[in-house]
Amino acid sequence: MDMMTRIATLTAECLTSTWPEAQGLPTADEIRGLLAVPPDREMGDYAFPVFRLAKALRMAPPMIAKALCEAWNHPEVARVEPVNGYMNFFLNRVNFAKETLDAVLAQGERFGSSDMGSGKTVCLDYSSINIAKRFGVGHLSTTMIGHSLKRIHDFLGYKTVGINHLGDWGTQFGKMIYAYKTWGSKEEVEEKGITEMMRLYVKFHEEAEKDPSLEDEGRAWFKKIEDGDEEARSIWNWFKDITLKDAARVYDLLGVEFDSYAGESFYMDKMDVVIDELREKNLLTISQGASVVDLEEDKMPPCIILRSDGATLYHTRDLAAAVYRKNVYDFDKCLYVVAYQQDLHFRQLFKVLEKMGKPWAKDCVHVSFGMISFEGQAFSTRKGRVVYLEDVLNQAMQKALDIINEKSPNLANKEEVARQVGIGAVIYSDLSNGRIKDIDFSFERALNFDGETGPYVQYTHARCCSVLRKAGAPLAAAEVDLPEVDYNGLADDEAQHLLRLLSRFPDVVKEAADKYEPSMITRAVTDIAQGYNKFYYEHRVLDAEPGVAAARVALTKAVKDVIKTGLWLIGIEAPERM
Ligand code: ARG
Repeated sequence: MDMMTRIATLTAECLTSTWPEAQGLPTADEIRGLLAVPPDREMGDYAFPVFRLAKALRMAPPMIAKALCEAWNHPEVARVEPVNGYMNFFLNRVNFAKETLDAVLAQGERFGSSDMGSGKTVCLDYSSINIAKRFGVGHLSTTMIGHSLKRIHDFLGYKTVGINHLGDWGTQFGKMIYAYKTWGSKEEVEEKGITEMMRLYVKFHEEAEKDPSLEDEGRAWFKKIEDGDEEARSIWNWFKDITLKDAARVYDLLGVEFDSYAGESFYMDKMDVVIDELREKNLLTISQGASVVDLEEDKMPPCIILRSDGATLYHTRDLAAAVYRKNVYDFDKCLYVVAYQQDLHFRQLFKVLEKMGKPWAKDCVHVSFGMISFEGQAFSTRKGRVVYLEDVLNQAMQKALDIINEKSPNLANKEEVARQVGIGAVIYSDLSNGRIKDIDFSFERALNFDGETGPYVQYTHARCCSVLRKAGAPLAAAEVDLPEVDYNGLADDEAQHLLRLLSRFPDVVKEAADKYEPSMITRAVTDIAQGYNKFYYEHRVLDAEPGVAAARVALTKAVKDVIKTGLWLIGIEAPERM
């Protein structure tokens, strides 16, 4: 039985012996779930928050904690202390080291995983790029936050559905077809791809400023797409193919995949039912010819469902999509990883679902995030000054290769490592701050091997691998030979700090899922990497006395496993040599 389970069992016993009459006290299992590793050693190795007991015992939490600590008499815990509503347990250092390493090494790269999500489904709507636009840096955050949240939920046992809700519907496609037929050519689109589509789109707007009747032409072509006109459909599909082929290269580099590419157009035949339902429920009102759901009492502008010409909108499709997802996947949660500019859009959407009487409206969550600027420059699509993600990724890989050529010219498979490091650097900087913060990307910062960066964490992982290789310890196997380990070798401050970080990792993963915040994992792996490097400089690993060396090798293995897992959870690869 591991130490936390043991403490939970003892605590449960302590509870029933202190209050034999009390009803509704938590079981040992429930207590195990409530036990946490405090961020700070001052607060003990484990802490039990007693707030949950207040109701059953009709007592204030600090009193409960105090009574429990007084009643406690189990010598294997060095000391217990009541602090406010917490009962804090202090193990001795050697025990804590053994407990933690046993726990990590028993699970290896699965340490921190859980089955808490089993039987539950989470839909994640992320990346959701737009057709006929190139994949810009502006879509990096949604792609990586979404991808990471998907992995985190998978790791916690949820069933996940990754959805790329493509922006492939709307009058802009009519305009583009008009522009293509008027000023474009097949050859040019074939040759220049999206660049040409974007040129045509800009051209349309320039011309439409001079001649507003073009707007009607655009609408007419979109109507043709809607009505299934063969020519319109085939041009539209062709634009879509080209865009998706381009995007596939980017997704490949990032290692991102989707379970579904059902975009806006997928819902063209699924909107009518929803509109009927809105009508039956008397939610639609006519405002200036348009059909809207009035949201005045909710202090929001009306949600437009049908324009005066009968055309559907972004909202209409999102309504249909939400209903479809609930019907098909029966999700427990549906996450929309979309920039904060669409806050209002989602608040309206969820409110309309609520008004429709969908009890699951509360399970829809807008996971919003801040803006990304690039080397100090904001960018915009309208002016055409877009920084393309593929260019950034290619540059990052090239720069990583330059650094590797300089630092480790003899490394085998340099190109492959440069890919892992370059891409890792970009992803790390995207996921290193709380998602709601705006971020500025800079190559120099991202690729600094000494800063808080992807390459720094990857390098630490490679360093662990190298220590393990020298020790002759297997890299992959979950178990190091533990019998000859002398845990006294891990009683120093650096090792203890590191052990604490490792033992907190499962809590961090759960918290990251709870708050939809991959950056918590980025933070955790960075702290662990820093902790290991500090430990490594202060202590000999291999040429220490055998029992101590074995303990330090085991710690190195645990660090390596957790860093690798953490990096994986944020979508970054961990090369074994750099
Ligand atoms: N295509 C949209 C954009 O790039 C994002 C779509 C987000 N998902 C959704 N269900 N509305 O801005």
